[in-house]
Amino acid sequence: MRRPMVAGNWKMHGTCASVAELVQGLAKMAIPEGVDVAVFPTSLHIGLVLDHLKGRSILVGAQNCAHEAGQGALTGEVSPTQLQDAGCKLVLVGHSERRQIMGEGNEVLNRKFAAAQVVGLTPILCVGETLEQREAGKTLEVVGQQLDSIIEELGIDAFVNAVIAYEPVWAIGTGLTASPEQAQEVHAAIRAQLAKKNSEVAQGVRLLYGGSVKAANAVELFSMPDIDGGLIGGASLNADEFGAIIRAAGN
Ligand code: 13P
Repeated sequence: MRRPMVAGNWKMHGTCASVAELVQGLAKMAIPEGVDVAVFPTSLHIGLVLDHLKGRSILVGAQNCAHEAGQGALTGEVSPTQLQDAGCKLVLVGHSERRQIMGEGNEVLNRKFAAAQVVGLTPILCVGETLEQREAGKTLEVVGQQLDSIIEELGIDAFVNAVIAYEPVWAIGTGLTASPEQAQEVHAAIRAQLAKKNSEVAQGVRLLYGGSVKAANAVELFSMPDIDGGLIGGASLNADEFGAIIRAAGN
């Protein structure tokens, strides 16, 4: 049985005051047994969040990391080693906003993924197609290529300690959610692709759905056989809404 995971990607949101308030709300929450919960503040707020969540079972991760594991001369970057040292357990790799807006391609993402694992951080690899690609019938091809890039470079065992998030770009921050059936189709394809290399790894890896998940649609999405939780953007900025999504994963 795969443990469900609900992760909140706070993106470039929050001030010291608003982050402290959000985290106080989270700290009061009862987390259902058997659900992993993680939050991804900006790098600037990671320390603050960890302080407030001391003794709680909520994991903290980073939204990005450098492509080198160790410290060094790389202005503006934060290394996996530093994230691990600060108390992070996870890191997002390849979010569509970084692929599209920051221009990160598979080569650098492969390196980030590997660098994270070198220091024991669990990467959450984000994959997903644009609306144009979906309309052209290329969803499975695009997602398959994003996944293959890691498999070919790092091998299937890289997914023993990793999570995958399917986030259709057209559903991110738009209020449009993939239907449970649309999401399930892609999740099943991802698992099948991994299973071609190693069925045990494929069965064990958690596949999260992301893209306008809210309390109102979480139950339906999470009830699909290959959806093991969610990567939540906007709705994770509200402790009550995020809490309701977490409870949906516990059902
Ligand atoms: P929204 O939930 O705001 O659509 O964002 C999803 C996302 O990008 C999470 O990484």
